[in-house]
Amino acid sequence: MGKKKKVYIKTFGCQMNENDSEKMLILLKDEYEPVSSPEDADLILINTCSVRKKPEHKVYSEAGRYKNLKKKKPHLILGITGCVAQQEGENIIKKLPYVDLVLGTQGFYHIKSALRLYQKTKKPVVFTQLKDDFCFPLILPSKDLYCNRITAFVSIMQGCDNFCTYCIVPYVRGREISRPPEDIIQEIETLVKLGVKEVTLLGQNVNSYGLKNKNYPTFPELIKMIAQIKGLLRIRFTTSHPKDLSEELIKVIAEEPKVCKHIHLPLQSGSNRILKKMNRKYTKEEYLAKIKKLRELVPEIAFTTDIIVGFPGESMEDFYETVEVLEKVRYHEIFSFKYCDRPFTPAGKFSEKVPEEEKDRRLKILHEVQGKITQEIYQSYVGKDVEVLVEGRSKRDPEWLSGRTTTNVIVNFSQCQSISGKDLKGKLVKVKITYAGKHSLKGDFLEEIKTEQ
Ligand code: 5AD
Ligand code: SF4
Repeated sequence: MGKKKKVYIKTFGCQMNENDSEKMLILLKDEYEPVSSPEDADLILINTCSVRKKPEHKVYSEAGRYKNLKKKKPHLILGITGCVAQQEGENIIKKLPYVDLVLGTQGFYHIKSALRLYQKTKKPVVFTQLKDDFCFPLILPSKDLYCNRITAFVSIMQGCDNFCTYCIVPYVRGREISRPPEDIIQEIETLVKLGVKEVTLLGQNVNSYGLKNKNYPTFPELIKMIAQIKGLLRIRFTTSHPKDLSEELIKVIAEEPKVCKHIHLPLQSGSNRILKKMNRKYTKEEYLAKIKKLRELVPEIAFTTDIIVGFPGESMEDFYETVEVLEKVRYHEIFSFKYCDRPFTPAGKFSEKVPEEEKDRRLKILHEVQGKITQEIYQSYVGKDVEVLVEGRSKRDPEWLSGRTTTNVIVNFSQCQSISGKDLKGKLVKVKITYAGKHSLKGDFLEEIKTEQ
């Protein structure tokens, strides 16, 4: 076989995009090997995100960087994939005529035929069809890409049927489609054989997994099936829509030891008036009732959330209702965003837009309130013994090891003399927490926790 060509992928956006980029690398692996510098590449792919304005704009500046590279290297192929490709389609070629491939959120699965077509015609190829009954091909993880990995993402469904009024996702990812359970299981079994110990199940709304398919398990049933896989130590999932969070799921989190005690439950706003305008289909009270139930059955559970500030019509009173929920729930961490208009969405046309400076002000208040809560929560870990899955050496200090608690907090810890040299990567260990930083904890290694093999 001849020498392989080289591919460079730049990924923007969420974990699903990261997972899609990995899938593209697997699809291309017979012909291309990944490189970490665009200058060395024969094929450059920009996998894009359009959920907010900022990541969308980054795509255009990123593509611009490669225009000159293409002049120097005429054979270089440049592709835009993912959500912006889906949103803009042919327009990308009009705006950026030096782009060769535009592959949408389902189109990227056909990357090999798109490349063949491009080689034949030397004309831009645009694949942006979005089918409601698309069958996601089974793309099994390959050894070269997954060796040495402890954690991996596994997409279990794609698309969204919820149509929150601010959100572009239903338009660029299409309707909810669940992957067959046997494909998911086979993918995870392969990952585990390659050394993976923790999987994060991905979907825009994992709680409605399988509900459209009579023969598929529900999401809690799927988790129970995955938990049977020998050698897999931990299961995480994201994102859950609060309206679909069932009692059955809460029970699985409580009773299944492999399921991590952390849930990302996007609130978006604490004001019922705004939640209604957002079409979130729950009230603040219903949301808080689910949090209470989760805490009752899983006392150690950690919560994280997404918040939008400055949604059209959001008053100071509405905003302070959000702050109040933060103080009630006491999330470990929040991801907060300034509302921005997105194409196709109803909210883009709503009046009473909040001025940019006001959104900045509200965001700052949220950061201050949450910063304090996070610090107090992190401080409460000090002195406790926690279970950590070791992912590898700490990026800051390679003498230290790093991993996360079941509650998804990063822990860096030093090894004691007697075990240094022993490879703890991929092992569950007990660590005594000695220090709380802003974004992580520090501690001392106590002992390795024995697990099934
Ligand atoms: N403006 C600001 N934030 C948004 N998000 C989604 N759409 C918008 C928008 N138009 C945020 C939501 C979502 C997260 C992924 O991005 O909080 O949960
Ligand atoms: Fe967007 Fe709402 Fe669907 Fe989440 S649930 S992807 S916010 S439409």
